[in-house]
Amino acid sequence: SAAVKEGYPSFMDKEIHDQPKAVADTLLGRTSPTGALVLDELRIEESVLRAVDKIIVVACGTAAYSGHVAKYAIEHWCRIPVEVELAHEFRYRDPIVNPRTLVVAISQSGETMDTLMAVRHAREQGAHVLAIVNTHGSTLPREADAVLYTHAGPEVAVASTKAFLAQITACYLLGLYLAQLRGTKFPEELRDALAELQSIPDKVAEVLSREEEVRAEARAMHEATSVLFLGRHVGYPVALEGALKLKEIAYIHAEGFAAGELKHGPIALVEPGQPVFIIVPSPRGRDVLHQKVVSNIQEVRARGARTLVIAEEGDEAVVPYADVIFRVPQTSTLLSPLVAVVPLQIFASELATAKGLDVDQPRNLAKSVTVE
Ligand code: G6P
Repeated sequence: SAAVKEGYPSFMDKEIHDQPKAVADTLLGRTSPTGALVLDELRIEESVLRAVDKIIVVACGTAAYSGHVAKYAIEHWCRIPVEVELAHEFRYRDPIVNPRTLVVAISQSGETMDTLMAVRHAREQGAHVLAIVNTHGSTLPREADAVLYTHAGPEVAVASTKAFLAQITACYLLGLYLAQLRGTKFPEELRDALAELQSIPDKVAEVLSREEEVRAEARAMHEATSVLFLGRHVGYPVALEGALKLKEIAYIHAEGFAAGELKHGPIALVEPGQPVFIIVPSPRGRDVLHQKVVSNIQEVRARGARTLVIAEEGDEAVVPYADVIFRVPQTSTLLSPLVAVVPLQIFASELATAKGLDVDQPRNLAKSVTVE
């Protein structure tokens, strides 16, 4: 059956609202009654997964940012080094790859030529390739050793939203599974992380229930010509994704930076009135991380930036330095991208709409790029 907008003004808006289900469906049926992860569907020998000594994520666009998020979680849970590389860059250097390397190729469509070429290149050198793909019957799963499907359902809008959340979810399942298999974390810690992952759909729904605040702000900013996004740790790829969404559909110059890098250059861009989004990690997690980001808000505010802060419910430390606060439910830092990115998606969609643009069909872009 043809995809329908179900009353939403665009497919992108519909897909933003599909996100609680996309995450829930991606988690569904992958846990045993005792709470252990079951990924038999991977059909990779456990001995191969136990021997992996390096993971390289290859992907493009939004899918690459999901891998960038996953790096933090997989390294934490599994103690396996993870590199994240744009597929087209990986392909044309001389990467160090062998049979102990697990290449994780992430793609919504399963047809991105750059990603397919990277996979072929990796396999020629003996790497094992695991594909994280949303589209059944696509090319990538056929070229990979194993596939873990995201169950986001068909994504129609060119700008990816629900596939991104489903990709992070699938990467996290993979990370928890590898940790379980290799015994790198206490089973309780893995069970807690999995339980928290299972609470994400409700938390995303909660963010969606407050979308009007974000939309009102986006409409007020329809004349913006440049927007900056800052984040640290997993908030950094969220910042990159927030900027990408704005470029893709609202045609606004936008850049995402690692907040710690500010002082090494980007802060020179900040002049009075410059809108800056800041993605703030949980104050309940590693204190230093939270404090550092709060200082970064102060630093840009002191130079006249207009600060739009994505912060956890109950985080009062940001209040003195925020011009606008978009609240998200309390979530551990590793899982926070799944809620923190949602206001940024809504913001881009509403801003593009306010500019009278076609949200689903941005100029110059294709949903799936099947040429190199
Ligand atoms: C295109 C789309 C992006 C997408 C990227 C990767 O450039 O416009 O939205 O993130 O391809 O697509 P894939 O299907 O491989 O996830």
